[in-house]
Amino acid sequence: MEKRKLTAIILAAGRGTRMNSPLPKVLHPVAGRPIIEKIIKACKKAGVTDVRLVVGYGQNLVRLVVEPLGVQCFEQVQQTGTASAVRAALPEQITDDVIILNGDHPLLNDQDLSAMIREFRDTKSRFSLVTAVLKDPKEFGRVVRHFDSIKAIVETREASRDTLQIKEINTGIYILDSEVLNEYLPRIQNQNSKKEFYLTDLVSLCLEDQIKVHGIKASKRAAFGVNNQVELAQASRFLFRKKARELLDAGVVMIDPTATYIEDNVTIGPGTVIYPNVFIKGPTTIGSYCVLEPNCYLIDATIEDSVQVRGGSYIESAKISKKAIVGPYARLRPGTEIGEEAQVGNFVEFKKVKFGKKSKAAHLTYMGDAEVGEDSNIGCGTITCNYTPDKKKHKTRIGSRVFVGSDTSLVAPIDVGDDSVVASGSTLTDSVPSGALAIARGKQVNKEGYAKKYKQTDLEND
Ligand code: UD1
Ligand code: MG
Repeated sequence: MEKRKLTAIILAAGRGTRMNSPLPKVLHPVAGRPIIEKIIKACKKAGVTDVRLVVGYGQNLVRLVVEPLGVQCFEQVQQTGTASAVRAALPEQITDDVIILNGDHPLLNDQDLSAMIREFRDTKSRFSLVTAVLKDPKEFGRVVRHFDSIKAIVETREASRDTLQIKEINTGIYILDSEVLNEYLPRIQNQNSKKEFYLTDLVSLCLEDQIKVHGIKASKRAAFGVNNQVELAQASRFLFRKKARELLDAGVVMIDPTATYIEDNVTIGPGTVIYPNVFIKGPTTIGSYCVLEPNCYLIDATIEDSVQVRGGSYIESAKISKKAIVGPYARLRPGTEIGEEAQVGNFVEFKKVKFGKKSKAAHLTYMGDAEVGEDSNIGCGTITCNYTPDKKKHKTRIGSRVFVGSDTSLVAPIDVGDDSVVASGSTLTDSVPSGALAIARGKQVNKEGYAKKYKQTDLEND
């Protein structure tokens, strides 16, 4: 039998009023990525070929985030309920099977979805409803059963006291044959307390026509929806803990796994030690036997084996090679590459710097648009003056085995040749040939006996 196509309709037109935030709910990040991105990626991984997103509130912003992910957006002009949201996605164009889900369930993953789809197909169901059993079912629609068979979904506002006792809830995920959807969706009416078109009415409409509604049981996690900032924070914490657990199982050492914030697309080799309050955003790769001390922030970094990143360092789109030491309090900005066994110390900022093997910049330095060869020493307080008043950037090239004395300004563009020495306090405006000593500072004058005179008060001078 030919494999049936699967289309997803994700409902995300709602405002998310209880988030109390100007950002559309589905764009809020959970463990670093927008909620909606997680759901779209899970759908695609689970084999959905056509993802349709129903947008409304904040749609311009939502489209900016989702369209690059290959999703088609459909505007729901008036938010008159979940059934009218599905209508906005033009289901009449859809053939084969459809999965409908809410845009605010960030803990739902592709394995959950794959298992649901498998059950739908294995049971040859035409309409499956995904349910979960919760201790506190809150505002979720209740699943009413009769002798085990699903009879209806009742929204809390419409539910009797007895119905509210039911712990089995509607997760808002439905998998169904598109023919069933297109047959019954137009029949849904808005005769309820909210005067909305409830998608949940599909259940009773199908049952009236003897179409069985199959229940698929899902975990509490899959049912977890974000409706406010507390739930958003809970979802992030859940994912950070899960990631920490996976890394611990893979041999990463963590002083306190509850205080590490490592995003999903980060890889870390075994034997690496992560101190508390380290935040690692993806995509980042970290090798083995590294140490990341407290309060480091890494984004899109590549870190080879045996690197030490000392406390308080901020590293963005930079590469650090084997056995290098960075920090404490170093800032590596995009385009920076630190060579093997190199050292970058405290209060050093590098932007687009290629820093050679075994070179050192131990203290208080700014380098931008620069290349430094191997085994060079950049003294404390060295600055590359790379930016000119015409808003252009210029390059500084420093060779290998160069000694740059402390408090040197290098006015770019400039080349400092191999094996040269730059005297402390120089302001270099011209290139330095290989092997030369460059001195570019005011000459010292010593005035014998002047110190005492200098210290006398005006009164003593009279
Ligand atoms: C819905 C279900 C409820 C289920 C719960 C699971 C209905 C009537 N009720 O309730 O049984 O337990 O989800 O989370 O379907 N949306 C639109 N357009 C609209 C209305 C909603 O796009 O006009 C979107 C929202 O952005 C949201 C989703 O649909 O992503 C669910 O809407 P919401 O209002 O949160 O429904 P619930 O009351 O949670
Ligand atoms: Mg909801």
